[in-house]
Amino acid sequence: MGALIIDGNIPLNGRISVHGSKNSVLPILAAALLNGGESIIHNCPDLRDVSSAVNILKYLGCSVKREKDVVIIDSSNLTCNDIPDNLMREMRSSVIFLGAIISRCGSASLTFPGGCELGPRPIDLHLAALRELGCAVLEEGGHITCTADNMQGKDIILSFPSVGATENIMLAAVSCKGTTRILNAAREPEIEDLQRFLRAMGANISGAGSSTIEIVGGARLHNAEHFVIPDRIVASTYIIAAVMTGGEVLIEKIIPEHIMTVTSLLNGAGCSVTLGRDCALVRRTGTLCAFRSIRTMPYPGFPTDVQPPLMALTTRCVGTTVFIENIFENRYRHVSELIRMGADIKIEGKVALVYGVRELSGAKVAATDLRGGAALIIAALGADGTSEITGVSHIDRGYEHIENTLSQLGAKIRRVE
Ligand code: EPZ
Repeated sequence: MGALIIDGNIPLNGRISVHGSKNSVLPILAAALLNGGESIIHNCPDLRDVSSAVNILKYLGCSVKREKDVVIIDSSNLTCNDIPDNLMREMRSSVIFLGAIISRCGSASLTFPGGCELGPRPIDLHLAALRELGCAVLEEGGHITCTADNMQGKDIILSFPSVGATENIMLAAVSCKGTTRILNAAREPEIEDLQRFLRAMGANISGAGSSTIEIVGGARLHNAEHFVIPDRIVASTYIIAAVMTGGEVLIEKIIPEHIMTVTSLLNGAGCSVTLGRDCALVRRTGTLCAFRSIRTMPYPGFPTDVQPPLMALTTRCVGTTVFIENIFENRYRHVSELIRMGADIKIEGKVALVYGVRELSGAKVAATDLRGGAALIIAALGADGTSEITGVSHIDRGYEHIENTLSQLGAKIRRVE
């Protein structure tokens, strides 16, 4: 699984740029099935989850070529419409392929995407929406089989603005007869990026970024080219790392409005984050003060994916920070590892109370999920002594060569297999 060895308390200084968004490129890779032609995707990050998605595209019959950060997909000759268990288990968000396979092939089957470290990760909203569009969905023996003989667009109201369900409906609705409106749709920037790609291939879709998305199905789709937006979670993570170590870092290739909820919190808590057109300049201005309360919400609220990295920072803030995790039911698995490093944290259900301590101590800790692993890296950067973080493959799912990026800023970090 590999491990990272980090010597803490070294200020990070310098400049880095942020890679393309994992949570944007994954649905876009699924959408490349729709046009039965060529899709050229620029700014595609080199991540484990992207490799998993490419493996699925190849299994389905696509040809996929990669030249640096450009991925070229040809989906003209699909040879099957199922995703086997081994590929589903590589990445649970592979469920995002369901809508695209149905759209293109008229039927799809995949194994139930298991839960993950964040909880059961149900897909009831995805399946209910596909049924409303006229899909026959059979759930049996851990398999989901969908057949769509006559899909008809209609209004679909989501009880929760689920990102994945919104994306699956968008991808299925492109091939429905008539108009589909998604009400209470997720508003994340990754949804807007998916809409841009679908429009580039000729789909008639509008409203992404708002709570109502409209798709007029049946358009003839053609080859498309797209540039993936920068990863707002990775940008936020590196900003928090710079604040933790007290350095001055310029983070480039970002979209400032995508991280404003995070940077507005940090400003005035003992650090300054100055946003430029496509960059952020981060520096510490004094003692780190606690944030009182942080509640995770759907976009544009505070992102759940930044909760673990920010919690790592708050372990060293003066005062107490209350976290309320409203999105996932089990997103505190990093807490026990932070406590091993000297943090003082109490969990009460979906609430975490973080009492700031004067220092953290390096320790051997285990990453058990992607953003929890990022939290451990941030804590290690701000700890006295050396830390060893195992389970790095979790972190590699969403952060491109993280040890190289941090070394570029002066961190003493190395990967050991
Ligand atoms: C996406 O997950 C992201 N993943 C997650 O990022 C992110 O944390 C999440 O959105 C919220 O922003 C990708 O885009 C690949 P949801 P997704 O459907 O689509 C419940 C990371 O670290 N729910 O908005 O799975 C669900 O259990 C990952 O990059 C249902 O109950 O998120 C959760 O509690 C982690 N039924 C909540 O909604 C459903 O059918 C949010 O889920 C679907 C979801």
